[in-house]
Formats: sequence, C-alpha cells, structure tokens
Amino acid sequence: MPRIGEPIVEVAGLWTVLGGFVIHQDLNLKIRQGEILAIVGGSGSGKTTLLRQMIGLETPTKGSVTIFGQKMDPEHPEDIAAVRSRWGMLFQQGALFSALSVLDNIALPLRELRTLPEDLVTDIVLLKLDMVGLAATDANKMPSDLSGGMIKRVALARALALEPELLFLDEPTAGLDPASCETFVGLIRALHRELGLTVVMVTHDLDTLFELATTVAVLAEKKVVASGPVKEVVAIPHPFIKEFFLGERGQRAMELLREYPFIV
Ligand SMILES: Nc1ncnc2c1ncn2[C@@H]1O[C@H](COP(=O)(O)OP(=O)(O)O)[C@@H](O)[C@H]1O
Ligand SMILES: [Mg+2]
Repeated sequence: MPRIGEPIVEVAGLWTVLGGFVIHQDLNLKIRQGEILAIVGGSGSGKTTLLRQMIGLETPTKGSVTIFGQKMDPEHPEDIAAVRSRWGMLFQQGALFSALSVLDNIALPLRELRTLPEDLVTDIVLLKLDMVGLAATDANKMPSDLSGGMIKRVALARALALEPELLFLDEPTAGLDPASCETFVGLIRALHRELGLTVVMVTHDLDTLFELATTVAVLAEKKVVASGPVKEVVAIPHPFIKEFFLGERGQRAMELLREYPFIV
C-alpha cells in the first residue's frame, strides 16, 4: 500500500452558481497523495462539475482549486498547461473521439506533447492497451465497434498515456456488467499499488467504493459534509450518509466492507 502523503489537490471556499442555482456553497476538500478518494453525493449534486473544476475545465464562481501547488485558473491556461501532464481524466461517458481509432484516441495526449517520434507513440499505445487488458488488434477499431466495457478501458488507457500521478474517474463502473466492473476495479487497485497513483473517483457504485476507496468525501447540502476513512464516514449519523450506506442497497455493500481487509 502506498503511503498517504501531503495534499496534492486542495479545493478551498469553492462556490458554483449555474443558471441561478447554487450548486456548491463554500466547499472545501483536500486530497492527499496515495489516497483513493471516492466522492459520493446525490444525482445533480455537482460531482461532475467539481471534477471538471478541479482540472480547470470549468471556472468556480468563487474560491480556488490548487493541484500540485498550482492554482487552476482557466483564465491562465499556461499555469494549467504546466502541470496538466501530471493527471489523467476518465470522463463519465468515456468521451472518446468517434472519428478516431482506438490507437489515435490513446495517442492524442502523447502527440500533443509534440516531442515523441511516431514509432514510440505507437509502442506506448500498445503498452497501455495491454495494461488495460485489450489486444494489439483492438488498436485499429473505431469507438462504434466497442462494447461499453471496452470504451471505458480505452478511455482509461488514454487517461494513463502520460503516466499520470493523479487519476480522475467519473463514474468509472457505471453501466458495466459485473465481470467488467471487477476487471476495472482490479486494474485500478494494481495501478494504485504498483505506481502509487492517487485516485479521485466519483461513484454511485457501493461495491466499487468499498473495494477500492481508502477515503470518502460526501457531497450534500452543497458542500462536503464529511470526509475521511471509509469506516469512519459510514458511521456518521447524517441523513444522506445513512440513506446512502445503510439503505437497502447499502446493506449488501456493508457486508463487503467486512470482507475487504484492504480498507480496514
Ligand atoms: N452548464 C450548466 N448550466 C446550468 N446548469 C448546469 C450546467 N451544468 C450542470 N448544471 C446543473 O448543475 C447540477 C450539477 O450537475 P453535475 O455536476 O453534472 O451533477 P452530478 O455529477 O453530481 O450528477 C445539476 O443540477 C445540473 O443540471
Ligand atoms: Mg455526474
């Protein structure tokens, strides 16, 4: 298990107002190196928006996000560019470019560097494909030829192309069948163990959460109402936490919690 280190992501006093609605109200969150943090919250509570703000794709109405000591201000893209290669992002829907082959999708962040010869780019892509459990023969397929599970794997290979220290995952297992889910969880766990990757994932899936997360942050009432080790947070008597973890579907997952020494 990687050691938990210093905070590498800091969200401070963040407000988001969209279409006249307050989505985040003075939200604070720190993510430490080596953590696998699960962000949970109701549908529409602003989880995806928060991830997009973290990586500088959207601007908070107020407050700040700092990653690797660098303020993420979309008005200063050169600051973001300086640290951008240190994280990877897996978007909620995979977000592959439909007109590009699997190879070209994964190669995209590598080619953007403009420093690598093309044969090296191809070698790296094949390595990443292998890492996510896809075959070299998948490289020339188009996204429309892929199953949902394969799309997520290609999107993960693309997120890992630059060997990031930090990985953002938005609902990585949503819509996957149980076997694909398990493969995905195994992959993330191995990357975390072997590369010491820090992971920030939004998930509704309690199985994924209990199997992977070291810490959890609960988004409710427009802010992070609780964050900390999974075992501590599930015990907090907040209505959303009780409903989320101890509701009917949470009961089975709580059994899992007892089975997984990983998070204890
Ligand atoms: N560009 C936008 N303009 C107005 N409202 C938006 C916009 N993007 C998201 N929202 C609203 O913000 C809220 C949070 O969205 P989102 O971050 O996608 O939630 P989650 O990922 O937690 O389901 C939702 O109510 C959504 O409708
Ligand atoms: Mg979302």
